[in-house]
Amino acid sequence: MIAAMSTPDLVAPGVFRLRCGTPEAITPIAVRRSQAKLPELEALPTAERAPFDAAQVQVRHGARGLVVTMPLRRGSGVFGLGLQLKSVLQTGKKKTLRTNADPVADTGDSHAPVPFWACSDGWAVLADTARYASLWIGTHATLAADDRSWRERVAAKNLPPSDRVEDLYRNAAVGERIVLEVPIAAGVDLYLFHGPTLLDAVRRYNLWSGGGVLPPIASLGTWYRAYTGFDQAEATACARALRADGMPIDVFGLEPGWQRSCYPNTFDWSPARFADPKGFLGEMRDLDLEVNLWENAYIHPDAPFAREIRPWCASETATDGLVPDFLTEQGTALFARHHAGLVAQGIGGFKLDECDNGDFNHPWSFPEWAEFPSGADGEQMHNLYGVHYQHAIDGMFRAAGKRHLSLVRASGALAAPLPFVLYSDLYEHRDFLRGVVTASFSGLLWTPEVRHADSLEDLVRRVQSVVLSPLALINAWYIRNPPWVHIEPKANNRGERMPQADRARGLVLAALRLRRRLQPYLYAAFARYAQDGTPPCRALALDHPDDPRSWAIDDQWMIGPDLLAAPLTAASPRRDVWLPAGGWRDFWTGEPIGGGRSFSVEPGLARVPLYVREGALLPLATPVERVTAGQGFEIVPVLYGDAVAHGALWDDDGVTPGASGRWLDLRWSRDGGLAGVPAASRLYRFAAPCAPSVALGDVAS
Ligand code: GAL
Repeated sequence: MIAAMSTPDLVAPGVFRLRCGTPEAITPIAVRRSQAKLPELEALPTAERAPFDAAQVQVRHGARGLVVTMPLRRGSGVFGLGLQLKSVLQTGKKKTLRTNADPVADTGDSHAPVPFWACSDGWAVLADTARYASLWIGTHATLAADDRSWRERVAAKNLPPSDRVEDLYRNAAVGERIVLEVPIAAGVDLYLFHGPTLLDAVRRYNLWSGGGVLPPIASLGTWYRAYTGFDQAEATACARALRADGMPIDVFGLEPGWQRSCYPNTFDWSPARFADPKGFLGEMRDLDLEVNLWENAYIHPDAPFAREIRPWCASETATDGLVPDFLTEQGTALFARHHAGLVAQGIGGFKLDECDNGDFNHPWSFPEWAEFPSGADGEQMHNLYGVHYQHAIDGMFRAAGKRHLSLVRASGALAAPLPFVLYSDLYEHRDFLRGVVTASFSGLLWTPEVRHADSLEDLVRRVQSVVLSPLALINAWYIRNPPWVHIEPKANNRGERMPQADRARGLVLAALRLRRRLQPYLYAAFARYAQDGTPPCRALALDHPDDPRSWAIDDQWMIGPDLLAAPLTAASPRRDVWLPAGGWRDFWTGEPIGGGRSFSVEPGLARVPLYVREGALLPLATPVERVTAGQGFEIVPVLYGDAVAHGALWDDDGVTPGASGRWLDLRWSRDGGLAGVPAASRLYRFAAPCAPSVALGDVAS
């Protein structure tokens, strides 16, 4: 049956809605909690037309659900679909968007699948469904009634037969349409985002979702999550030891063991292990550490709010705990009210674990047939759970008048306004790098967290990668000592020190100091994210959609306007780097490098390949160990231009939601020196500008 279709409605600047059939009652947009940022959308370049009109879209409704066919220009690149750990370029792929904690193959399973895709031609689409929808992106064509068009299509490929095994299947792709299949539903709204560029289309989606986010500046330092078995004295000793060792840590995370009971959770302090939470939190404050608490959403019968929340929970349990329905006001309010008590004690953020679906290894989540008081079924709820769990916690922080940055293991559509960063139990470094790249297409943030390592090189390369990501996280939840003391978990827990421990510490410290230096620059990148939707860490394709060489790059990314990261893994001390057209400089030495080409680098273990746009001024911070409230950062303007250099900082109080702020436009010229330094600033003091080799001379090499 052909389903009815509307003509595209303009719903916000550059955002058009195309209604296909009769959509379901529970969809990401029907239950959305965030408002579009309309003034910021107005400020984007104008886009007056929908990227394609209704006549180019076909909709069929049958027993399996809905099939929607949309146009795709042959030769264009398609990106997005949320966090995709296995591939960045989606053209030629089939993906099923299913929230899953074990995304081990390139199937679309993900901690954060998003039915949103963006095209190098400068448009993007959000399919408003919470179903496990599938997409075929340039893979199939319908057999027409006459053979002519079919013959022509096959002939048009005009590829000679290949004798190379790896080329054998390249003829198989068809490439002129995207097909979306939505199970069960009788309709779906498509939201079309017009660029005019790929980056503008993604910005438009982010702003229309209500994002991006500006976290507290301290949360952009380094995080350390401590061993889950620690009691209060041991956790305190661990934090003190990190300080005594000179490690520039800013956030200290407690894992499940802080609670009276976990799996399912009581969400309160263990009287046996943490007898004096007030004393503990006071101690952490004295050490300038923000405390972050682990939890998952599943509620123990003895939790203080279990009885009250029970009517607002699913028909099924998860880890035998109640599953709160975050689509209900009542369930959300009761859950949030309890957490507000923890925030009043001084907790700065949470780690929302295991809100993805555990299908394979640990069935820790609710089943698809679960029924929820809101009317959602388990399938829909899986694709909505991460986002609405985040809203419950974020809404509580907003009500408390506090900014936060937190962690979450599942997310989905319209997540850009949520200050949460995704992470995973899977531990493949190469996939973790790809996550930074792919998350940036769909309003998501990702951290390639560090746990243990296979070798010194593996540890150092992982730490160097994570400090260049949205959140620098050492997740030592299963080791008693930092991984730089011993990389191997069993030996680490026996208290052994590896022979290369001193070298490892020095190299890790250098990487964490790099993070500290970048903290104000990252803060500015986040401020831009909040103001115009530009992802702070972004795929190269977002800035260079017209150069197909950028499309499949999955181990390099831009950080803010001027910095390009090309991290290494332990697999090889050498890698290829592709620099976009234009002038670039080596971050460490300031040496000029021409772009628009690939080249090979072997920088040695102490250095991670980083490149700076010619003419940039990087406002780097002096790498102090502790960021003490009210003291701010000393900024060293580092010059990557010979005659002029330009950079910017966001200057507000660094902590208050909606705090008034201003851009500091820093301009240096050989003749005029540095301009744009304010008479007074709440966050920054300024040192004299200098060359990279002077500013970074203390970095181990
Ligand atoms: C896992 C999570 C880990 C750690 C652990 C604690 O699911 O990914 O980071 O928090 O739970 O049990």
